[in-house]
Amino acid sequence: MPTVRDLRAKAGDEPITMLTAYDAPTAAVVDESGVDIILVGDSLGNTSLGYETTLPVTVDDMARHTGAVARATDDALVVADMPFLSIGVDERASIENAGRMLQEEDAHAVKLESGPHTVELTEKLVQLGIPVMAHLGLTPQHVNKYGGYPRQGTDREAARHILELAEAHEEAGAFSLVLEHVPSNLAAEVTSALDVPTIGIGAGPHCDGQVLVVDDAVGLSEWSPSFSKQFGNVRAEMESAIDAYVTAVESGEFPAEEHSHEEGNLEDIY
Ligand code: KIV
Repeated sequence: MPTVRDLRAKAGDEPITMLTAYDAPTAAVVDESGVDIILVGDSLGNTSLGYETTLPVTVDDMARHTGAVARATDDALVVADMPFLSIGVDERASIENAGRMLQEEDAHAVKLESGPHTVELTEKLVQLGIPVMAHLGLTPQHVNKYGGYPRQGTDREAARHILELAEAHEEAGAFSLVLEHVPSNLAAEVTSALDVPTIGIGAGPHCDGQVLVVDDAVGLSEWSPSFSKQFGNVRAEMESAIDAYVTAVESGEFPAEEHSHEEGNLEDIY
């Protein structure tokens, strides 16, 4: 397993690979592919729980899915995303919620959707032994503030604010930083200003690593953002397998003899 220190050392060397996973079988496949980091993203609200946004995702949801992923992962670093309002309202509750992901669910680190309100908390969590991945740019838990999911850091003031927050989180002890949906030249600037690795999503090629939502990457999602890329078509594979199953059941072809068994001593039981 790459440790948080290994990842810090990797910045600027080989690109870091990160993918989300939300359940044990997917985590096992992602882990076997050699991905460096598995993020149990609160995007599971959209991908797995059928919500429109990530806001309804609870600490219990994240704990259940983080445990499933951690149990199926041997090599990757497992990072648990902290859901809406689970951090930042009250320091004690924030620490307990983040600590639960490591203490009870075997995550190695947590990710916080970051802002001015998470600098002190990042420092506190790191002091307590909870490694923190920061997340700046588009932070989907702010969907109601943004009125959607717009690009971030597109003017000088907003870009400078992101750069300053990135530096503040590095100073507070974050071991890496996700940059979401920001201009690639801003991501390049942040990457060169920080010692810790940046991991981009919709942030261009200059970050130290890349992350995608696994459902988007494998082609399972019905919709995916324009900055994402499908590297397969799992949805089409599933549709064709399920069509074949329905046809086989309807035609009586399944189950065949090899899928059934008979017991000799069950005659005349009624
Ligand atoms: O929840 C998530 O999957 C994320 C990634 C897109 C970075 O935050």
